[in-house]
Amino acid sequence: NMADLAAQPKGGSGGIVIDDDWPGYSLDLFSYPAHYSGDLDCVVIPHGVIMDRTERLARNIMDDLGDHDIVVLCVLKGGYHRNSDRTIPMRVHFIRLKSYLNDQSTEDLHILGAEDLSFLAGKAIVGTGKTMKALLKHVEAFRPKMIKVAGLLVKRVPYNSTCLPDYVGFEIPDRFVVGYALDYNEYFRDLNHICVISESGKMKYKI
Ligand code: HPA
Ligand code: MG
Repeated sequence: NMADLAAQPKGGSGGIVIDDDWPGYSLDLFSYPAHYSGDLDCVVIPHGVIMDRTERLARNIMDDLGDHDIVVLCVLKGGYHRNSDRTIPMRVHFIRLKSYLNDQSTEDLHILGAEDLSFLAGKAIVGTGKTMKALLKHVEAFRPKMIKVAGLLVKRVPYNSTCLPDYVGFEIPDRFVVGYALDYNEYFRDLNHICVISESGKMKYKI
């Protein structure tokens, strides 16, 4: 439940809470690629708000980690966004996780490019927490000094595992969202805003 989720993460707040009854913004209020017209229901989080929130998350992370030598493990493809100005050196690794087919979480998680890892995790969306748990187990085997997880989105799903990111951007309803690098079968990564996909959008890009 919402209150539980918001109370849990150690690294500060559980993020900006978006309620279940929030209808989102009308698509007519923003610009978005014309090739996606009809494929979306509404804008849940406009691009500017994502930018503002991630900027603050980045500051919280840097404040907490101080001058530790950090490595960012960026989980592709949803986790990629450019880093802003840093005063300490920071290494960035990319790995790739894939567990979704259409809008459903599947049992087989693929971890690619993670043969030799060291440290910190950042992932764009945490649904059931199942993927995050599997990744943490994998990363822990390399014995890093400290592991912190940052997730842009946490979904309020019925069977949320106990595993939540240390840093959370937004807590959102249990709906399939796309945009800001979040995909539906690899589509919609080129959409700036985080949106709810429409039924016709799901049909159009179904495998
Ligand atoms: N959208 C895209 N990818 C996802 C989602 C979602 O809502 N949940 C888990 N992976
Ligand atoms: Mg995906």
